[in-house]
Amino acid sequence: MKNGILTTIGNTPLVPLRQITREPKQHVYAKWEGMNPGGSAKDRPALRMIQEGLRSGEIGPDTVIIESSSGNMAISLAMICSYLGLRLICVIDPKTTTQNVQIMKAYGAEIDWVEQPDPQTGEFLPARIARVQALLSQIENSYWPNQYANPHNYLSHYHTTMKEIAASLKEIDYLFCGVSSCGTIRGCAEYIKDHKLKTKVIAVDAKGSMIFGGEKSKRLFPGLGAGMVPPQLKPELIDRTVYVTDLDCVIGCRLLLQKESILAGASSGGVMMGFQSISAELPKDSTSVLIFPDRGDRYLDTVYSREWVKEHVGAMPDELQ
Ligand SMILES: Cc1ncc(COP(=O)(O)O)c(C=O)c1O
Repeated sequence: MKNGILTTIGNTPLVPLRQITREPKQHVYAKWEGMNPGGSAKDRPALRMIQEGLRSGEIGPDTVIIESSSGNMAISLAMICSYLGLRLICVIDPKTTTQNVQIMKAYGAEIDWVEQPDPQTGEFLPARIARVQALLSQIENSYWPNQYANPHNYLSHYHTTMKEIAASLKEIDYLFCGVSSCGTIRGCAEYIKDHKLKTKVIAVDAKGSMIFGGEKSKRLFPGLGAGMVPPQLKPELIDRTVYVTDLDCVIGCRLLLQKESILAGASSGGVMMGFQSISAELPKDSTSVLIFPDRGDRYLDTVYSREWVKEHVGAMPDELQ
């Protein structure tokens, strides 16, 4: 089934970062997931969830795929479903950017808007899930990949992302990984454990996220944090968690652009700042891999807009203006 554009998912480059560490002898690499054809790491779980649905017979040629996502997962599924000739309905909310909606539509996905948040929690996620469940009961032969609960989310990273990293580098001391559905970190951490690698796994979470407990507060960017404990999370596989703010994400993105000429998405900036926050504690000749989930093109109106940052995030250091 893996054919055409789908053969270009994965095997993303590992980019040596030379200027972002203050320790001259530390080796730092970015796993540059923005090079996937759908523009993000989500191509991997999207492909595996659809492939396995086809293999098990849960998805057939006339099945309608329904997923709740406001960003990268919806775009990845839209690309894959378009290639396979499957009908896709993306359940989204008003936080989805116009550009993302346009990309989904360009691939031929149908859009189903949820206008109101869940009345009890004030969150859109439960409202979107309720809408998915309503559509599943109304539409015959429909299928919900459900990235939050589907084990093929994390298994995609087990069988591809971490395997590729391990094949490229002899020794990896630290893996820095952003967390949202926790598919990426779970898959990579399980691979590390099963293959007895000595790599320590560092989760980068957003301040105000509920993944590891704590107080919930407003977060601006998709991809880092969640308002719940994701079912895929296995905290015992994670060695350490560091927290970053929305401003850290913006500063990290600007630094990546300034020092490495990498135009990355918000969560990559967050992962970069998560690394920097503890890099002075890491051994001088250690090797770290930072997973950068997506490109910056989808953040031109937010992270890369001075006016937007000033209004929504706050003041940036002068040298990054
Ligand atoms: C941009 C971005 N960064 C990071 C992540 C986190 O990955 P995961 O959901 O596997 O925890 C996501 C997932 O939504 C994402 O879209």
